[in-house]
Amino acid sequence: MSADARDDRAGVLADLSARIAPWLPKARWFPGKDRAAESVRVIDLLEIPGTGALAVAIVESAGTLLVVPVDPLTGLDAAAEPALAAAIAMLALGGGAVTGLHGSLVGRPVEARPSDNAPPLPRVAFPAADLRVRPLGGDASNTSLVIEGAGAAGGALVLKLLRQARPGIHPEVEFGRFFAAATDWRGTPEFYGWVEYVPVAPEGDRAAVATLHTFEPGCKSAWEVLVEWLADGGLDGAKRESMLDLARHLGTVTAQMHRALASRCDLPDFAPEPATAAGRRALGHRLATHARNVFTSSAFAASPQSQTLSPRLSRLAAKAPGISAELEALAAAGTTAADIRVHGDYHLGQVLVDESGQRVLPIDFEGEPTRPLAERRRKTSAAKDVAGMLRSFDYLVAHVDRLHGAGPGDPAPLAEAFLVAYRHGASRSAWWPTDADEERRLLAAFTLDKAVYELAYELANRPDWVEVPLGALERLAGV
Ligand SMILES: Nc1ncnc2c1ncn2[C@@H]1O[C@H](COP(=O)(O)OP(=O)(O)O)[C@@H](O)[C@H]1O
Ligand SMILES: [Mg+2]
Repeated sequence: MSADARDDRAGVLADLSARIAPWLPKARWFPGKDRAAESVRVIDLLEIPGTGALAVAIVESAGTLLVVPVDPLTGLDAAAEPALAAAIAMLALGGGAVTGLHGSLVGRPVEARPSDNAPPLPRVAFPAADLRVRPLGGDASNTSLVIEGAGAAGGALVLKLLRQARPGIHPEVEFGRFFAAATDWRGTPEFYGWVEYVPVAPEGDRAAVATLHTFEPGCKSAWEVLVEWLADGGLDGAKRESMLDLARHLGTVTAQMHRALASRCDLPDFAPEPATAAGRRALGHRLATHARNVFTSSAFAASPQSQTLSPRLSRLAAKAPGISAELEALAAAGTTAADIRVHGDYHLGQVLVDESGQRVLPIDFEGEPTRPLAERRRKTSAAKDVAGMLRSFDYLVAHVDRLHGAGPGDPAPLAEAFLVAYRHGASRSAWWPTDADEERRLLAAFTLDKAVYELAYELANRPDWVEVPLGALERLAGV
C-alpha cells in the first residue's frame, strides 16, 4: 500500500474519531463512565453495502474495543437505522463478508439446524424498504433490535449488537450453537447466526459483534412480570399464587437448562467435570480474591455519589477479611456435585415469560459482562446460577419497595418456591449436591460472591442501587 493511501485511511479514522468522541462516552453502554472523550479512537471503518453509505466503526477506548454502527457523515450512532440493522442481520443469516480498512465483518450462519420441528429460517427482505426496526428495552451493555415486517416470512428477529467486541469465543455464540445443534432442549429462543469482526492483524483474533435470534412475541422478562404483580398488593396481594407459580416454573426450567448444559459428555467444552477438593479450594480462593479486589478498588474507596453510604461501606470493608474467609471456606464443602457450564449471569431479567406465565425461556447467555471471556466460560457449580436467581428475588422486592413505598414483604417465599422446584428438577443429576451441607455452602458462597459483584457493579454504574447489595452484604456478613 502506498504511503498516500495509508495517510488517507488514517485521516478518515481520525476525522471520524473527532465526530464520535463528543457523544460516545455518554452512551449507556459505554464502559467505565470515568473515561474521557480523548480515549476514543476509531481503529476501523466497515462500510456496509446497500445501506446508503452507513458503516460499522470499531472504536478503541482504554484497551476495550467498541462496536459503533455509524453514519460516517454525521458521526452519529446508526444502530437503529433499518437498512443497517437488516444488512447486519442478513450477514448473520446468509454468511458473507464486508471488508473495511483494517479488517472485515464476517457473517456466520448457524451450521447445523435442529433436527425436529424447527421453524423455517426467517427471510429478511433486502434492501429493507418494508422492514420495521425497533429498539428492545434491555440492560446497559448491549443494543437489541427487533426486525419485523412484510419481508420476514418466518417471524421477527432479534438482532443484538454486542457493544464490546472481545477477541475470543463469545459465550452467547457458543451456547447458541450448542443449543441449536447439540441438545434437544428448545427452552431458549432459537439462534440463527452471528457476525464477527476479523482484524487483518493479529490474524485470527476474532470477536463477535452481533447475534441473531428468533423474537418471542408477547413475552416480558420475569422481572417485569413480577414487578407488575408485586405492585398489586405485595407478596400477599391478589397475585400471590401466580407469583409463587412463576417462581416454581423458573425453578423447573432452570433445572432443565442445566440438564441440557450437562448432557454432552463427548464435547470437551461442555462435559461435566467431577468436583475435587483442590477444585473447590481454587474456586474459594478465586471468589475470595475477587472480594478482596472489590473492597480495595478505587470505586469502593471513593464511593463518591453517596455520602450517606460511606460509613456503611467503611464498616463493610472492615468485615472484608471475614467475607473472604467465608468464601475460602468453600474448600471444606463436599464434592458430590460436578462442575458444568452455566448461564453465568442468571437473574429475573434474563428470563422471558409469555402472557400465560407458563412459557419460561432463559435468554442472554453472555455471562457477567465485566468478567473476562475465559472466566465466563469456565465450568463451575450450577449453584452460581441458582444463587444469581436467589439474589434477583432480593433485588425485585427492594425495587418494588422503592417504587411504591410500603414494602412488598419478604422475598423468602419466592426464593423458597424457586429453590424447591429447582431441587426437584435437579434430583438424580450429577451436578447438584446430594449432600445438604455441600448445597448450603455452595449457595452461601455464590450468593455472597454475587452480592460482592453487584456492589462493584452498582458503585461503578448505578449509584442509586448501591443500597440493595450493600444491605444484602450487611446481612450476610453480620455487619
Ligand atoms: N428473543 C427475544 N424475544 C423477545 N424479547 C427479547 C428477546 N431477546 C431479548 N429480549 C428482550 O430484550 C431484553 C434484553 O435482552 P438481553 O439479551 O438480555 O440483552 P442484554 O445483554 O442487553 O441484557 C430482555 O430482557 C427481553 O425483554
Ligand atoms: Mg440481559
